[in-house]
Amino acid sequence: MMVLQSPAKLNLYLRIVGKRADGYHELVTLFERIDLCDEIRLKPLKDGSIRIRCSHPDVPCNSQNIAYQAAQLLKKGLNVPSGVEITIRKRIPVAAGLGGGSSNAATVLKGLNQLWKLKLNVPQLVDYARQIGSDVPFFLYDTSYALGTCRGDKITKVSLRAKLWHVLVVPRVKMLTKMVYGEVKAPLTEVKLSLTKKNDNVNILIHHLRNNDIKAVGGAFRNDLEPAIYQLNPRLKDLKEKLKLFDIQGVAISGSGPSIFALTKTSSEALRIKKLLTQHFKQVFVVQTY
Ligand code: C5P
Repeated sequence: MMVLQSPAKLNLYLRIVGKRADGYHELVTLFERIDLCDEIRLKPLKDGSIRIRCSHPDVPCNSQNIAYQAAQLLKKGLNVPSGVEITIRKRIPVAAGLGGGSSNAATVLKGLNQLWKLKLNVPQLVDYARQIGSDVPFFLYDTSYALGTCRGDKITKVSLRAKLWHVLVVPRVKMLTKMVYGEVKAPLTEVKLSLTKKNDNVNILIHHLRNNDIKAVGGAFRNDLEPAIYQLNPRLKDLKEKLKLFDIQGVAISGSGPSIFALTKTSSEALRIKKLLTQHFKQVFVVQTY
């Protein structure tokens, strides 16, 4: 039996730089790994089958689950005779822009690489991860921060010591990633032009993180999916405006939402804001860079 932590992510920066021929959007995104984790248990099965166990009502326990697909890709691709029982203890809210499912799939790839003694290196695991979803490759890298380009699936580690504190609010709103991208109406040529502006660049955010300049870090958050997300649910814009009234350094939506995170200077500040928000929202977390 193997027990693994499967962490969530935030997108501190997500810029759409074009639309690709395959229909996907070309991104520049900065991922932050956070300490909100699911737990994954892998138990070898002699009968060669793949089984998923999870008690969360929104998580499918069949081949629709991308953790199942991860195991199946390795099994079929490498003719593995063994099977596995994958037990997922969910703590990361589902379909929330936090990469929970993608992280589970990446954790299964890493875990089975060991359990089934496959000896795959990271680039080989990335090839499998890309087939499962755009956010999966990030979770294969042992890093707190990374830059994602192409579909968000081409990963470059960013070595930073910054430990950030966030209050994370997950409203009970369904936000399908495909639908959000479908609403994107950015005039992409203009977007491309403005990328050249010096003060509007992911490198500025990385620079502020390197200097641990928390106020500037919060000011450099960006998510180009936000207009599409607010189009689908205007109440999320109101929530963002409300969060700005607290003593925070910056606020943004993670990925395609609906999770929204605020940056605070200290853990006690984050806990104080969480206490106030818990009166109105069921899912409020204090999270830190992991
Ligand atoms: O890769 P993943 O399956 O997570 O993507 C879900 C959907 O989000 C895609 O079908 C696509 O519509 C959209 N997407 C996109 N551009 C990206 C990532 C996702 O258009 N870079």
